[in-house]
Amino acid sequence: MFCPKGIDGYDLLVAGPVHEMSEKVDITLTINGRDHAIRVEPRKTLVDAIREDCGQTGTHIGCEHGICGTCTVILDDDAVRACLMFAVQAQGRKIRTVEGLASGDTLHPLQRAFIAHHGLQCGFCTPGFLMLAANALEQNPDIDDEAMLDILSSNLCRCTGYQNIIKAVRAAAAEMRGKRAEG
Ligand code: FES
Ligand code: FES
Repeated sequence: MFCPKGIDGYDLLVAGPVHEMSEKVDITLTINGRDHAIRVEPRKTLVDAIREDCGQTGTHIGCEHGICGTCTVILDDDAVRACLMFAVQAQGRKIRTVEGLASGDTLHPLQRAFIAHHGLQCGFCTPGFLMLAANALEQNPDIDDEAMLDILSSNLCRCTGYQNIIKAVRAAAAEMRGKRAEG
């Protein structure tokens, strides 16, 4: 099994001749339960590999340096910024992207709430917000409003003024809690 050990940003900057960085390696990324066998340079970011090599373009790229959060995906159980990871580091991990949020034709409560509460305009930031909020609610379904606002504050939106995103997330959280209470 390929081991990404030792391939981190520092190693890539200081170690080894340049050709080692551009020599492609075979890895398998598991995205939304489906394996994608791909060949990538060790320096390729996870978000680029998800989009370019695996064809899952629902995850967007904004700033490319960890600020905007539009590239947010769920890796195992954590929301991560996929522009800050190398694809090789995600081998053997479970990646979830916005394409996997709905169950078949049934939208996730967050997706429905974003539509109902106009939580998007251009939609560029939306995949990141959806995956960020979905992960927060999975980690703690009873998360309080202050903690949720703190989490949402890590992503940027240039259109909505945030209020409708917050309304949508609150509505989805309430619906999910209600369903849980009904059993
Ligand atoms: S593109 Fe990853 S945080 Fe902006
Ligand atoms: S809806 Fe346009 S950036 Fe958020």
